Amino acid sequence: MSVNRPHLHEPGQPTIESCQSSGRIPVTLSSMGGIRPERIAGLFEAERAEYVRKHPRSLQLAGRGIAGFYAGVPMHWMLDWPMPYPFLVDEARGSVLRDVDGNEYSDFCLGDTGSMFGHSPQPVVRAIRHQADRGLTYMLPTEDAIALGRLLQQRFGMPHWQVATTATDANRFALRVARAVTRRPKVLVFNGCYHGTVDETFVRLVDGRPSNRPGLLGQATDLTSLARVVEFNDLAALERELAYGDVACVIAEPVMTNSCMVLPEPGFHQGLRRLTRSAGALLLIDETHTISSGPGGYTRAHALEPDLLVVGKPIAGGVPASVWGFTEEVARALTEARDQLPPGHSGIGTTLSANALSLAAMRATLEQVMTPEAYAHMDRLAATLASGLGDVLREFRLPWHVVRVGARVEFICAPGPLRNGCEAEAAHAPALERAIHLALLNRGCLIAPFHNMMLVAPSTTQSQVEALRGAFESVVSPLAGAP
Ligand SMILES: Cc1ncc(COP(=O)(O)O)c(C=O)c1O
Repeated sequence: MSVNRPHLHEPGQPTIESCQSSGRIPVTLSSMGGIRPERIAGLFEAERAEYVRKHPRSLQLAGRGIAGFYAGVPMHWMLDWPMPYPFLVDEARGSVLRDVDGNEYSDFCLGDTGSMFGHSPQPVVRAIRHQADRGLTYMLPTEDAIALGRLLQQRFGMPHWQVATTATDANRFALRVARAVTRRPKVLVFNGCYHGTVDETFVRLVDGRPSNRPGLLGQATDLTSLARVVEFNDLAALERELAYGDVACVIAEPVMTNSCMVLPEPGFHQGLRRLTRSAGALLLIDETHTISSGPGGYTRAHALEPDLLVVGKPIAGGVPASVWGFTEEVARALTEARDQLPPGHSGIGTTLSANALSLAAMRATLEQVMTPEAYAHMDRLAATLASGLGDVLREFRLPWHVVRVGARVEFICAPGPLRNGCEAEAAHAPALERAIHLALLNRGCLIAPFHNMMLVAPSTTQSQVEALRGAFESVVSPLAGAP
């Protein structure tokens, strides 16, 4: 049986005190969520045994590693789940996923957002079928591109767009453009951020100073030479760092979703925009996760005014694709910058980007899947889920909290609200979270392996939400010491 090495957590997790969080997260809770360690260990061991009992075929086929793959899986993140070995998926449709052992799950992970609109949405399936016989990639546009360009403009408000294959790529390319047009070297990130495997964002604050994130493999350069880091919601620090005049771009998720979720405080986004404008730095809003907020993402829902916008993951209904857009001013400056360059590779683009299949899938997703009606359903059920989980926490007097951004819901095993990345990292309770995830999975509810994130899709049903609430209650009740 393979032994997972979950990296839910990084080495050097800050202590609560080190966040200068004015004591809002009681020290005594530390990283156990206030639960006695022996209860957590007991739950985890019992659930491990139950998982093994329920997954004999997955154990036989893949439990000792799938031959041919380094670490026994096609992509090493597949080992980041809490189970002793991954199960093999047989099929998934809508919000239901089945494994080769015949177990069925209500899927609230949804490919960690890649399938946020449910598995295989029928309009996307039809578009893929239609395109499948006409060639999949030719490095030339199709008629779908004509419709897609207009859809992107109308949906997100940016006049100029490019297509990439992953949100990582979209962010990398957009940052390159920001540097080119401002002629400045640095990127400013918020502590605790994640924007994909984008080198210059792999920095964090340690004792108030920027440092390369620990755990980076093969890191040959000091990433802090290209980055500035401040805490989310700290406008004074932002102003101070922008005053150096070397920041090309601030890259931000409008809500921090890649640690325990952190909401912007009132006035933060207005301040962020005002300060970036007055410092001559561009603002890139990464909507890859916060597209859960509504059809035009958090940006449209809250009238933000970024210079660059990135959307990835679910934008093509599960087919790999991402988009990055920019304003008229950025486009003009980009053209000027390009005109001054000698011929050669721009450092932007990959061969399969904007392939015919992804264009077709994106058009179908925007036209028929990411509809206001779909979002209304997602929003309503996510609100039901959030309040149901909140009720459970109150019932068992657990000092945790629940956060929601549209269709994205998270329970956090510490009091809230959290104010910044440091507090968010300190609020993680890795052993506890792992045990809860596995226990929920054994009860037929799949949530994201990273954080305690749950997504509600257009295909999610009220009864699935009720079942998740019930499973959560049955898991936390013994942890909390209820008889
Ligand atoms: C906000 C954000 N941006 C970008 C990415 C990178 O997406 P991908 O892994 O599809 O490149 C992620 C991935 O989780 C993300 O959360």
